[in-house]
Amino acid sequence: MSGIDPRALDDEALRSYVAGCEWYHTVELRPGIETPGWFDLRTVAPRLPWPELAGRRCLDVGTFDGFWAREMLQRGAAEVLAVDILDPRRWDWPTGSETGIVDALAARKRKGDGFEFVNRALDHSIERRELSVYDLDPADIGSFDLVYVGSLLLHLRDPIRALERVKAVCNPGGAMLLVDAIDLELTVRHPRRPIASLDGIGRPWWWKPNVAGLVRMVTAAGFEPTAAPMRVYMPLGPGYTGPRPRPSLLRTAAGREALVQARRGDPHAAILARPRPA
Ligand SMILES: C[S@@+](CC[C@H](N)C(=O)[O-])C[C@H]1O[C@@H](n2cnc3c(N)ncnc32)[C@H](O)[C@@H]1O
Repeated sequence: MSGIDPRALDDEALRSYVAGCEWYHTVELRPGIETPGWFDLRTVAPRLPWPELAGRRCLDVGTFDGFWAREMLQRGAAEVLAVDILDPRRWDWPTGSETGIVDALAARKRKGDGFEFVNRALDHSIERRELSVYDLDPADIGSFDLVYVGSLLLHLRDPIRALERVKAVCNPGGAMLLVDAIDLELTVRHPRRPIASLDGIGRPWWWKPNVAGLVRMVTAAGFEPTAAPMRVYMPLGPGYTGPRPRPSLLRTAAGREALVQARRGDPHAAILARPRPA
């Protein structure tokens, strides 16, 4: 943790500190003072198919700055545990990835400082543990009424094994809300056939399924969707510094994806699913 207590800063100092750091999520810390996130998910949150959370025990997997953990708290959860891997070197990297890219992600991650800073600024006491999704174990962390898994599977070499671990910590009457990246072109071209594109070059980006593929990952891991999947776009925030679309790129799938991302947000699908009895 940076050691800076946001509550000790006046508005001007807080604004200046926040502007000097990289953030993943846009969060309002005080009226008019927001973290400039890579993504601003505030318009997405109310549209997701949340189950009733009042009094429930919830888990946020891969929390980053903790936007979704806080959303569950605001929805009345009695307890929210957040887990994450704070050192990006421990994420799933393809062999041969350049250290410059690893270092850039480490700079954005800031050893998880963003989560702690927002937690203090908002006077929240969400517990965060450093734990991989692959190591979720009910003997260690107990079980949960809702497990939120957001924009994580794309970054995993083995997304179905990860979902099996999520099921292991889901109460029999509980649920998982999965909101993950989809390949839009594959979704349009193959509305029924489960199919995924594979990145796996130089960065922790792996499988990007179409919507049918994401549903198949969920069912293969032992979950049953409670309703049809919902397409959502994750809007970029003011801190986004990634590629911007150029007209010359529009002939390629990557260029068209960048255009959709800039206009509407990163294409995702949301699936609320219940664990199938063994
Ligand atoms: C793209 S961010 C998504 C942040 C947030 N979940 C959201 O939906 O906005 C991916 C997050 O997954 C975390 N992560 C990467 N590999 C992980 C793993 N094996 N287990 C748990 N978290 C992981 C990263 O540290 C990062 O916080």
